[in-house]
Amino acid sequence: MTKILVAVAWPYASGPRHIGHAVSTFIPADIFSRYHRMKGDEVLMVGGSDMHGTPTTVRAEEEGVPPEVLANRYHALHAKNIEQLGVRYDLYWNTADPNHKRDVQEIFTTLRGKGYIDERTMTSPFCAKGNHFLPDRYVEGECPRCHFKSARGDQCENCGRLLDPFELIDPRCRVHGTPPSPKETKHAFFRLSAFQDPLERWIADKGHWRLPVLTFTRAWLEEGLQDRPVTRDIHWGIEVPLPGPEWASKRIYVWFEAVMGYLTASREYWRRKGSPVRCKEWWYDPEARHYYFIGKDNIVFHTLFWPAILMGYDENLVLPHDIPAAQFMNISGEKMSAGRGKGVWLPDLLERFSPDQIRYYGTANMPELKDSEFDWKDFAQRNNSELLAVYGNFVHRALTFAAKNFANAVPAAAFLDGADKGMVRNIEEQWKKVGQNLEYCHFRDALREAIQLARLGNVYFDAKAPWDLVRTDRAACGTALHVSLRVSRALAVVMAPFTPFSSSSLWNALGYDSDVHGQPWGAALEDIPAGQRLRVGAPLFAKIEIETPGDAERLDVRVGRIVEVQDHPNADKLYVITVDLGDEVRTLVAGMKANYTKEQMLGKRVAVLCNLEPAKLRGVPSNGMVLAAEDARDVGLLLPPDDAPFGAQILGTRGAPRLTFSEFQKFKIRVAEGDRVVFLGTDEKQSIPFKVGDKFVRVDKGFPPGTPVH
Ligand code: MF3
Ligand code: ZN
Repeated sequence: MTKILVAVAWPYASGPRHIGHAVSTFIPADIFSRYHRMKGDEVLMVGGSDMHGTPTTVRAEEEGVPPEVLANRYHALHAKNIEQLGVRYDLYWNTADPNHKRDVQEIFTTLRGKGYIDERTMTSPFCAKGNHFLPDRYVEGECPRCHFKSARGDQCENCGRLLDPFELIDPRCRVHGTPPSPKETKHAFFRLSAFQDPLERWIADKGHWRLPVLTFTRAWLEEGLQDRPVTRDIHWGIEVPLPGPEWASKRIYVWFEAVMGYLTASREYWRRKGSPVRCKEWWYDPEARHYYFIGKDNIVFHTLFWPAILMGYDENLVLPHDIPAAQFMNISGEKMSAGRGKGVWLPDLLERFSPDQIRYYGTANMPELKDSEFDWKDFAQRNNSELLAVYGNFVHRALTFAAKNFANAVPAAAFLDGADKGMVRNIEEQWKKVGQNLEYCHFRDALREAIQLARLGNVYFDAKAPWDLVRTDRAACGTALHVSLRVSRALAVVMAPFTPFSSSSLWNALGYDSDVHGQPWGAALEDIPAGQRLRVGAPLFAKIEIETPGDAERLDVRVGRIVEVQDHPNADKLYVITVDLGDEVRTLVAGMKANYTKEQMLGKRVAVLCNLEPAKLRGVPSNGMVLAAEDARDVGLLLPPDDAPFGAQILGTRGAPRLTFSEFQKFKIRVAEGDRVVFLGTDEKQSIPFKVGDKFVRVDKGFPPGTPVH
C-alpha cells in the first residue's frame, strides 16, 4: 500500500474552464486516483481554485466587480462542474482561504530566514496614464520568439515562453493602450539560482517523465536559473509578510503561492479530519509518491520552481515523482483560451452531455504527448461508435438476453469450451494491460485496452450466437451468457476509473447492491455468481446527435483593420494586405488593385472571413479573405460600422471549422436594399444581415440589390 498524493493544477477562478483544462488536469487526475484507490493505495487528491493574480483582476475590472466577488463566483462554478464531472477530490479548496494565506506567509518567512528570499530594487513597466504598475497580464505586446501579437507580460500563450515584460515588442498597457515606461520598484526575490545544482541532481533520474516535460525542463536548466521576483505591485492576493509601508501595496506573486497550495491543502485536509500529524505520512515519508496533473503551460512552475521552494523550505519534504503534463486540446487548430473567450466550455458541455461521454472523449483524445483537436463530429462519432456501440451494446445485449431467456438471473456455467476459456483469459489479459498503462499515466492506451475487452466480448457473443444456441443447446447457451455477464462485470470494474457513472449503473444492473467504486481492482477477475438476479435498466449510453449548425454558423466573419498594403510580387491585380483583428494579425491576398488605391485601402475597417483554408495565391500565403461586392463594373469593400471594435463578430461563430474555397462558394452573400449585406445560405432560404451589435454592415460605392459578395 503506497501513499499517493494526486496534486491537481489549481484552475484560475477567473471564468469558466474549457474542456482543455479538464483533459489535462481534472480527468487524468481523477482516473489515476480512482485506479489507485481501487488498488488499495492511500490516495490524497487535493487542489482548488486559484483565486489571485492578474487573470482574476483583469476580468473583474472588465466586468466592474470586485475581484473577490468574481473569484468566489467562479470558484463555486468550478466546484460544481468538478462534481458534475464525477471528479472526486479529497479536498477541493481555494487559495483565498485564511489557512492557506497563513501557511503561505509562514513558508515565505521561513525561506527568507534561510536566505532564499531577499529584497531588491528592480524596474517594472509603469503606465503613466493610469498611474499604475503593469504586472503580468496588464502589459501586452508582441512575443519576441513567435511574434504572436498579444503576448502577455509574464508569458506568451501562443508559444508558452515565459517572458520578462521588457522583452515584449511594442508593449502597451492593457487598460489604457499606452506604451509603458520603466520605473523602479522594490520586490522580494526568490533565489532560484541557488537551486541550480540540487535541481540538476534531482532531475537526473527522471527518465520516466514524459519526454516533452523533460526536454522543456532541461532546456531551462541549461539556460541557467535566474532569481525571480515573487511579489507584485497589485492589491489582490496574499499580503507580503515584511515590515515597512511600501509592502502594503504589494502582494505575493500568484504563482509563488498557488503551488504551495498542494502542501497547504494537504494540511487542511488532515486538520479537518482532526489528525493534522497524518499529513506527514504523505509529505515526509520518502516512500510516498507525488503526481502532479497539469497543462504544458505550467511545466517549469512544477518541475523547477515548486521543487526549489520545497527544497528550500524543508529539505525533508517529498518532491514530485511524476509530472505528466498534458499538451493542449485545440479547437479547429486554434488554442483554447479562457482569457480570450475561446473554447468548448465545461458548463455548456455538462448541460448537453453526460459526464461519462465527456470523460470518454476527453480520455480517448487526451493530448498526452502532442496537441489534440476537439472536434464535434469526432466527439459524437467516438461516443456513438465506441462507447455506445462497443461497450454499451455488449453489456446491454448480454443483460437483456439473459433477462429474457434465463428468468432474469445469471445462468450457470456448465462445461467451458475453448472459446469460453479463451474469453475468460481475455479478461485477465486486458485487465493487466489497463492497469499497466494506468501505472505509467498512459490514459489513452489504458482506455483503449478496456474498450478492447468489450470488443472481444462482442466477437465472442456473435460467435456463440446465443439466439440460435438457446434452441439447440440450452446449457451451452447458459454458459455463453454466464461468461458474457462475467465479462460485463469485469468491464464495470475496469471502466470505473474512466466512466464512473455508467460503471455504477452497470454494477447495479448486474445485481450488485454494493458500490463498484469500493471494489478492489482485482475484483475484475472474480466470477459472477450463478442465480444472481439481474436488474436490467435503460441502456448505459445515449446516442449523441449533433445538429448540423445553420449555414451561417459555419462562417467566421470579423471586423478587421487594414494596417498594411503592398503590391503582390508576382501578380498585377493583387495586393498583399495585413489586417489587424484585435487579437491577431493576418496577411492575405486580395484582388482589388484595379479598384482601390493603397491609400484608399489603408486604415479601412473591413469584413474578414477568418476560417477560410489558408492557401498560397501566386506564391504568397493568404490566410483569410477580405469580403467585397463585385459586378462587371467595380468592386466595393464591405464596411462595418465606424464604431465596431476590431475583432468583433459580424456573422457566424468564432473558431468555426475551416472551409475550403469551394465550400465557401456554395454560400450566397448578396447586397440587399439600402446597401445592406445579407447572408442567404446555400438554399437562399436564410436571410441573415451582416451586423455588429445592432448596426448593419454596408457595401462601399453602392451596388444594386442582388450583387454577389465574396
Ligand atoms: N492557475 C494556474 C493555471 O490555470 C495553475 C496554477 S497551478 C498551481 O494555469 F499549482 F500553481 F496552483
Ligand atoms: Zn494603464
